[in-house]
Amino acid sequence: MARRVAGGVLCFVASACGFVNDPVVVESSRTPEDSVAFDLPPPVETTPAEPSGSGNDEPTEAPSPTSPTSPSRSTSAGDQRFPELGSADIDVVHYLVKLAYRHDQRTIDGTLVVTGTLLNQTDQIALDADGPYVTAVRSGGASVDFVQAGRELLIALGEVKAVGSAFGVEVDFSVTVGEKSFFQGDVGLFPTPGGLWSVNEPDGASTWLPLNDHPTDKATWAFEITAPKGLTAIANGELSATHETLGGVTWSWQQTEPMAPYLITLLVGDYELVDDGTSASGVDLVHAVLRSRSKTLDAYRDVTRQQLAFFESLFGAYPFDRYGVAITDSVPGLAMETQGLSLFSSDELDGSLGRLQQAFLSHELAHQWFGDAVSPATWNDIWLNEGFATYAEWLWMEEVGFGDVQHVAEANLSGLPATGWPLAKPEEMFGLISYNGGATVLHALRLTVGDDTFFAGLRNWVATYLDDSATTAEFQVVMEESSGTDLDGFFDTWVYADSIPSQLPKSGAAVGSAP
Ligand code: TRP
Ligand code: ZN
Repeated sequence: MARRVAGGVLCFVASACGFVNDPVVVESSRTPEDSVAFDLPPPVETTPAEPSGSGNDEPTEAPSPTSPTSPSRSTSAGDQRFPELGSADIDVVHYLVKLAYRHDQRTIDGTLVVTGTLLNQTDQIALDADGPYVTAVRSGGASVDFVQAGRELLIALGEVKAVGSAFGVEVDFSVTVGEKSFFQGDVGLFPTPGGLWSVNEPDGASTWLPLNDHPTDKATWAFEITAPKGLTAIANGELSATHETLGGVTWSWQQTEPMAPYLITLLVGDYELVDDGTSASGVDLVHAVLRSRSKTLDAYRDVTRQQLAFFESLFGAYPFDRYGVAITDSVPGLAMETQGLSLFSSDELDGSLGRLQQAFLSHELAHQWFGDAVSPATWNDIWLNEGFATYAEWLWMEEVGFGDVQHVAEANLSGLPATGWPLAKPEEMFGLISYNGGATVLHALRLTVGDDTFFAGLRNWVATYLDDSATTAEFQVVMEESSGTDLDGFFDTWVYADSIPSQLPKSGAAVGSAP
């Protein structure tokens, strides 16, 4: 959820919201949990609600023997917070996303080519698809049976396949842009006057693409996006080609580093892509800015380089080939750590560089290490994203003279809500506990183990789980190995408890016995 500050600005970034000094009204305007089917009755085994085989709009027929008829058989990724998301049967290796965007109709016709490996013996696979209207599915060039049941797309493989088998399916679908409201808590695709934008955390990607929507299943990606001539279509990765087609211009993007679905960006509009060379460490810097705002980008080029160097010195090498900021006409108060190209709104990145911009920019950049390179293995582990990015933001704010971390952590400790804990399973995914609470707890950990060990531990964390996802328990293990100390006491007190201490540990506080 979002924190709403006076003036009605949604605020996901701690320092920008002035939480430390200013009162913040916490409002449940956005609860992703509400949108999921916690209270659904268990799936009933029946014949498919939708026809299978040759498309969605044909009359229901008796399923053929190979029809995927039993939604209850499909296994989810087992996420406590989003029980229906993901599938544990498949490991997707690569997605090819082909999209044709019609601006006049606000529709997208798409084909998703999904290739991967079976993790369980099965004769069907399940993708998440809560919005895409699937019209055909092929495997090996031939049509296969499918059914859309609730938010799942079940695809028949035609025979029982062994664990470790490769699979490949091609899904044709269409989706309409513009039936959603970010301010009502929706995620996914949103229209703008000149095109569209998207934000997909935590479960938005499957509202417009049929895919395995869970951060435990990362894949490489290729995007081929056709948009009307005159518009720019942007996705994650490197722009490898543009070519004119009948429908407009096709923009090909290659995301060769593994990426979780929730980190997809898709932007269509009158954008300029700005190549800003490379960082001192060799990271390609490519920004995207609305052409009408192109001057405003200049304010953020140098500071991005400085933040990159600062975070590399603390957290280790930047984890990807490229980075950029996208200055978009999304909505005010919103920023998102979309992989390799963070999403901002022109309301905040307006050409000025004050506290708010410093906070937003540093927070989303830090997420590239914490969230993108290392993703949460379950959505209850969200503090591994938001607490870490918020702490990094505090470190940067201290660096540029906006207040020292010790005082910020102390102020937060006395101001944080008493309810909504534990940090390892916060009541709200995107609330004060996971952001400021998580950052405060990281500061407590730093005071406990000492600066050198703390930052070495963070570097080990990123190095160990790069391109992967991990849990809070795994973070504890990395910190224990880095410090040579048993941290059960610390984690029980600060991370797993329903309330946290009212005092920060003294610097260099004694820690438990060696494990
Ligand atoms: N991860 C974003 C950030 O703090 C915030 C966020 C979470 C978000 N879920 C969202 C933003 C949904 C927009 C939509 O940087
Ligand atoms: Zn964040």
